[in-house]
Parts: sequence; C-alpha cells; structure tokens
Amino acid sequence: MEDAYIIQGGIPLKGEVKLSGAKNAALKLIIASLLFDNEVILANIPRIKDIEELLRLIRHLGAKAQFIDSNEVLINSSSIKNSRIDLLHASKIRASFMLFAPLLNKFKRAEIPNPGGCRIGLRPIDRQINLMKALGINVCYDPDDGYYKAELKNEKIQGGTNIFEKSSHTGTEFAILLGCLAKSETVIKNPSQEPEIDDLINFLNNSGANIKKINNNIYIKGVSRLISKEKYKIKNDRNEAVTYAIFALATSGDITVVGIDSSNIKSFIEKVRLAGGGVKIYQNKIRFFYQEKIKATNVVTSPHPGFMTDWQAPWTVLMTQASGVSTIHETVFENRFCYVDELRKLGAQIEFFQPKVQNLKEFYQFNLPTGKKKFILKQAIKIFGKSKLHNAVLNVSDLRAGASLLIAASVAWGESVICGASIIDRGYEHIDKKLGQIGAKIKRI
Ligand code: EPU
Repeated sequence: MEDAYIIQGGIPLKGEVKLSGAKNAALKLIIASLLFDNEVILANIPRIKDIEELLRLIRHLGAKAQFIDSNEVLINSSSIKNSRIDLLHASKIRASFMLFAPLLNKFKRAEIPNPGGCRIGLRPIDRQINLMKALGINVCYDPDDGYYKAELKNEKIQGGTNIFEKSSHTGTEFAILLGCLAKSETVIKNPSQEPEIDDLINFLNNSGANIKKINNNIYIKGVSRLISKEKYKIKNDRNEAVTYAIFALATSGDITVVGIDSSNIKSFIEKVRLAGGGVKIYQNKIRFFYQEKIKATNVVTSPHPGFMTDWQAPWTVLMTQASGVSTIHETVFENRFCYVDELRKLGAQIEFFQPKVQNLKEFYQFNLPTGKKKFILKQAIKIFGKSKLHNAVLNVSDLRAGASLLIAASVAWGESVICGASIIDRGYEHIDKKLGQIGAKIKRI
C-alpha cells in the first residue's frame, strides 16, 4: 500500500507544536507577489503540496517562484511570458483563478480553466465572474476547451463597486488583487472577514497599495505600482492550531500550539470551554488540555468570526468522545460530510438530519439548486457519544477530513491505516513529524 499513514491509537498526545504559516494566506500572497514590479521574498511559507503546485504553475508561466530557504519563497514576475494557465496544474488549486489579476495587469488578456481544490461542494465561481464584470473586465466561458477567457476594455483594470450578496473568502481576496492597481477606486461591499484577508491587505499596503476597511466595506484606491521593500512574514495557520487542539482533547492529552493569536479562533475556544476542554491562553501560544469528561456541544458553521467550516470535521471526531448527543450544522459548503462513513467504520454513531431553516437562500452560504426540480438537503449530523472507536482502514476525501481521520485513528483502539496521505500533505506541513514529537506512533508508507 502506498500514499498512506499507519497510526497507533490510544496514546494521549502531549507536548508543544510549532505552527506553520497559513496555507490560505500563503497561496494568495504568492499570487499577489506577481503584481509587483520587483522581486518579493515571503517568509513562513509552509512546505505543503498546494504551495509546491502553485509554484510549479507560476514557473510554467515563465516567472521565478521557488523556495530559497526552508520556508522562504522568492517570486519575480518580470519574466512571465505566458497568459494561459496550464490545465493540469490549475485544476489542482482553488486559488489559481486569482491569477487573472496579475495576468490581466501584464497582458490585458488571460485564459484560466475552471479551478480545482477539495471537492467539498460544487464550488462554483459565479461570484468571482460577477466581480470581474463589475470591475469592467470582459470575461466569458468557452465550453470548447473549458477555459474562462478575460480581457480588459482599456489599458488598465477599470475598478468599480462589487457587492458580494453572499460572502466569498477567495472572492474577496481576488477583488483586492484586481483593485489594487486599477484605474479608479474599487469598493467591495459585504466582503469576507477572515484574518488571512487582513494578512493580504497588510502585505499589499506595506508595498504601496492603498486599501482600507471602513464600516465593513473595503475601499481600494488603485496605485501605479507595488514595490516590495522588505521580506514579509505571513501569519501562522489557525486551522492547523484547531486541528492540534482537537488531537489534544480527543486523545485526553495536553498540547500547546505555539505562534497563534487567540482572537483569530475565538469562536472555537468558546466551544471548547463549553465542551469542558481545558484552555489556557498565553501571549503567543495556547494550551489545550483534557481536564474532565467532554460534554456534547452543538455547532453551526459560518464564515469568520463564526465557527469555521474547516473545523467541523475535527469537531465531529471530538464529539464522538463526548457524553450525549451533539449536532453539527454545516452552512458554508453543501458537501462537507464525506468523512462520516469513514468514522462509522471506526464505530462512530452518526446520523444525518436536516434542521428546519426559515429562509434557506439567506441562511446557507452556498447557492441553492435552481429550477423546479426538488432537492434534498442533508446539512447536519447528530453524533451519539461516547463511542469506543476501534481501528480500520480509512480513505481521505478532502484535506480537513483527512486530518480528522488521523485524529479519530489516534483515539481508536489498535492500528489504523489512512489512505490518501498526499491529500493531507496538501495543507499540513510535516504532520507525521509534528505528531511524532508529541508522542504519536505514526508512519508514512
Ligand atoms: N461560492 C459560490 N460561488 C462563488 C464563490 C463561492 O457559490 O463564486 C460558495 C462556495 O461554493 C461555498 C461558499 O460560497 O459554498 C463559500 O465559499 P468561499 O468562496 O468563501 O470559500 P473559498 O474561498 O473557496 C476558502 C478556503 C477554504 C475555506 C473557505 C471558508 C482557500 C484556498 N480556501 O475557500 O479552505 O474552507 O474559504 O473559509 O482559501 C481548506 O483549507 O481546506 C479549505 C477548503
């Protein structure tokens, strides 16, 4: 068997975990660096598969993009010669669509295929297309080759006002990239609020951009150029912090995640406390520890500052170890429970249900199916705890689900095999090494 982890369960994991740079910031800052007139060096970039893929894709365009140190990346866009993105590479990374921003700035026209990423829902890009149109870009889909083709009407991106009727994390970041070198002002109404977006704004403003957040809108005055003055260090990964927190609580362990601002995972910490988990916050680190029986605690996911959708799969694993019935209602993606059958293989007791929702269209962040055809939603699960989990051979469906299966296998009795290790490698730097340092018996095969 290849591309798998073997992990021995039943060991309380204890110790310190140094967090890596945030995947969902690193990807966007690397793309943003292609807008610059000079060479950019980004520090704290995680060595994960999604980043390697993105760097390969950018090199394919002709630009320089490579690791120059263990976690430092150099990007220089001056040699870009290609305005059509490679289909195979682009299909692997969700953020590849954002490359329209640097390519349109450079070539006035560009071609990018439908983006990839984890299959946790249909993940359409209608909000990004509407955004491009609102900022004066001509864009259309060519069904003959599956590419989106865009061109500028004038020399520069025009700018304008875009209202996100529903939030979009990557869409907001894309809007920022399109706006920062535009001819006139760009206003983004109802932008997403994730801290990774603030990191992007900070990076660009440090380099000459003029981006302001006022009253929940983002205002961007286009500037003529972006110049990097110094190395920029990206913030650490809060999704990684949450993952290790749950490793601690679910295995009755004690883990301190180092390099995190607690305000960025406030909603998670609140739920941990409600569930009876131990939390101690220090200036730059948080200790999560098992202190008493875990209590069933309900969760409804939502965009930041709510309980993030990325945290629901690990939370489900924790709730298999809680006494009583807990519920999780996923509101951001329409297909983020693919891991449930895998947890059932370990002996978890989980049932799907659909909570009553007053106004489906307003409540859910994803687009509801259109037309007259009836559709069935299964956006919530009930978890019946506490289950004594046992070992199994499990398959990873997506990144966060993969890490959650590792948590479940660490709780379960016996030795489990997790197939699809490379999906976990897309977003977790050295996960086997980090787990080994806190006592896990894990091997990559
Ligand atoms: N949506 C549309 N149309 C659009 C854009 C989004 O229907 O044009 C829908 C999505 O399908 C989803 C909802 O709107 O149902 C929210 O999507 P959003 O655009 O906010 O998500 P994203 O930008 O595609 C990023 C992260 C995800 C994270 C979400 C939520 C990156 C590369 N990905 O996705 O991260 O779950 O925001 O914060 O930044 C992960 O790291 O494992 C991951 C999936």
